[in-house]
Amino acid sequence: MIVRRLRLWAHGHTRERRYSPVGVAFHWTVAGLIVFQLWWGWRTGRLPVGAEKVEAYALHVQVGLLIFVVTLARMVWRMIIPGPVNDADKPGWQSQAAHLTHFAFYFALLGLPLSGWAMLSATAPQQPLSVAGLVPWPHMPFADLTPERRWAIEAWAEMAHFGFILLVLALIPMHVGATLKHEIVDRDDVLSGMLPGIHRLERSLARAPRRIAKSVRPPKASGGG
Ligand code: HEM
Ligand code: HEM
Repeated sequence: MIVRRLRLWAHGHTRERRYSPVGVAFHWTVAGLIVFQLWWGWRTGRLPVGAEKVEAYALHVQVGLLIFVVTLARMVWRMIIPGPVNDADKPGWQSQAAHLTHFAFYFALLGLPLSGWAMLSATAPQQPLSVAGLVPWPHMPFADLTPERRWAIEAWAEMAHFGFILLVLALIPMHVGATLKHEIVDRDDVLSGMLPGIHRLERSLARAPRRIAKSVRPPKASGGG
């Protein structure tokens, strides 16, 4: 029942070739968090060992787990509400590349926090974890394993974390480049479908000439005298 209502509501947006406001909010929230996280993780790795580094890692973990939870929620949303069919959805390699890029993004958005979580669960099971510093989060059940096993997990997870970082760093310029090509070269509706409130702005701009014409129209001459 709720799902049907949500689909009906979202259809009002996807019919006009736009992502729903929830889809748009998910996209830009995760995009912002990922860019921050890449910079913060890089910066943290370069801090000298000390209290500042420990605090910086704590924030890295809190934001990373937030990305994990938001991505899971986003995937559920995406399964219930498909994205719009827009000018990018033409048969051919470009569409396939776009779908592959989106799939790879979701893969990395789950793989990054999972590998980070595995690293800490293997080496620092006593360190409390939380989502955004608000909701406590458990460790993976590695505490009872032998130290050799735990260090092996850490080594694999660290390699995976680094691999996912490289994947995201490769995907972002491809994705942004493709979007800019749609916007600047093809001049189609792909970017506008992912911008918040753009349709309202477009509509009011479309109505603006009529409103201006009305306001400058001379008053009707009164007939007879
Ligand atoms: C930097 C981190 C970013 C990530 C992780 C990301 C991820 C994604 C994902 C996973 C989708 C597919 C949505 C779905 O259908 O489920 C998507 C769509 C889209 N993104 Fe991004 N994005 C990022 C940045 C950007 C930026 C900076 C722009 C604009 C320049 C942008 C523009 C778009 C557009 C226009 C779509 C819709 C594409 C279509 O319908 O074919 N994204 N993004
Ligand atoms: C979800 C998005 C995430 C992104 C984009 C991300 C990104 C990064 C980056 C850029 C680095 C620095 C790599 C370097 O300069 O060597 C890093 C390191 C690290 N991250 Fe993440 N991370 C994410 C999530 C997490 C989570 C959820 C955890 C833990 C629960 C975590 C734990 C770690 C640890 C322990 C390191 C240090 C690894 C080492 O010793 O080399 N990360 N991460």
